[in-house]
This record gives sequence, structure tokens and C-alpha cells, in this order.
Amino acid sequence: MAAAKSGGAPGRVRTAVLISGRGSNLAALIATCARPDAPAEIVLVLSNRPNAAGLRYAAGAGIATQVIDHQRFAAREDFDRAMSAALEAAKVELVCLAGFMRLLSPWFTERWRDRLLNIHPSLLPAFPGLDTHRRALEAGVRFSGCTVHFVRAALDTGPIVVQGVVPVEPDDTPATLADRVLLAEHRCYPLALELVASGRARIEGERVLIDGARVPEAMVINPEPA
Ligand code: GRF
Repeated sequence: MAAAKSGGAPGRVRTAVLISGRGSNLAALIATCARPDAPAEIVLVLSNRPNAAGLRYAAGAGIATQVIDHQRFAAREDFDRAMSAALEAAKVELVCLAGFMRLLSPWFTERWRDRLLNIHPSLLPAFPGLDTHRRALEAGVRFSGCTVHFVRAALDTGPIVVQGVVPVEPDDTPATLADRVLLAEHRCYPLALELVASGRARIEGERVLIDGARVPEAMVINPEPA
């Protein structure tokens, strides 16, 4: 993964970001790739929704954008094949799902196996799927967070690259918890992209090993002991 194959900035991994909406994680990825020493370059932002706000943000940052409207396709796999063709045409090597709200077919996840990252707003394997924050609050967990992982065929599964943990507060609503988790997302996704694109993260079995990973020492307890 360490070197780009052709075109673009030499040595940078040609990366696409797939979105459906707001694009705040996209913005975090664009910011990290703007650093002169970034190992990844975002060469394409692809949306299944023509009015996704993230498209305007990407265009403003000078990044190529493309819309492939899933409603034009009768079968899920036909849509996935059209996306894959667009990614290949742009010589994409690594794909980041960032608020991309379509289920991907096993064909697509296999086609992009080990080159496809996703961010999910929970500490997987807890709370996969939709409505994550409401379910986390109902379960009474004391911590939540986000997970960046390589994508496998089953929804929100695959080797985990980075997780960020946030405390749950007693008066949290799904919205306040989502805001807190989103701040963690904006730190974790750029870190995961950097680790993968630089070749420091590699998959062994279904776990991710990271060269030179520093592990935090502190234990966190919620509520804090008196
Ligand atoms: C994020 O919470 C992400 O984890 C989830 O969808 C949301 C997308 O937000 N998959 P944004 O479009 O990146 O702002």
C-alpha cells in the first residue's frame, strides 16, 4: 500500500472517499491529506446522493467529485459495479467510507478487500447498524466511541484499525452523545488512514498489527472513583 502506482503525487496512496451526506469525516480526511508528508492523497469523492453537502466541500478543496445515484440502478450489485468502475478509472488504491449510507454487496467488499475502510460510531462489535447512539444509551453503557475498520461482507464487521473511546454522561441524549463521538471520529479516521496508507498497519488473520504502535497507559473508569 505504501506507493502510488501511477499519476497523482508520487508515493502517495490514491484514495477515494465515499459519502452520502454532511461530510465532516471527509473534511477531517482532506485536512490530514493536505499535510506535506501525508502518505495518502484524496483523488476522488464519490456520492450516491446528488445533494450531499460533502460534495461541495470537496469541490471547494479542489478535489474531483462524482455522483452515482443509486436510484438509477435496479440491482444493488449493478450500482456497486458502477462505483467500482469509477474508482478504477481514477486509479484508486484505497477507499474510505465516510457516512456512506448504502449497504455494499459481497461482490464489492471482495473486490476491494483489504483496501476498503469504514468508520462506525460505536465501539464495535457493540451496536453495529443504525441508531447506534440511542441503542448505546438504552443499554446503559458507560463508554461509547468510534471504530475504523477494514470492511468485510457482513455489516460493520472487519479487522479494526483504530478505536476512540468517549464517556457517556448521565444526561446524554442520542444527539449529545453523537456530537461527542463525532469529535473522536475526526481524530481516529485521519490516524487510521495514515497508518494504512503508510503501510504501518497490516492485516494478519482478522486482526490489524501496527508497526511502532504506542498504546495509552491510562485506565479510564466511569464514573470516576471518589
Ligand atoms: C458518522 O457518524 C459516521 O460514523 C457514520 O455516519 C456519520 C457521517 O457523518 N457512519 P459525516 O457525513 O462524516 O459528517
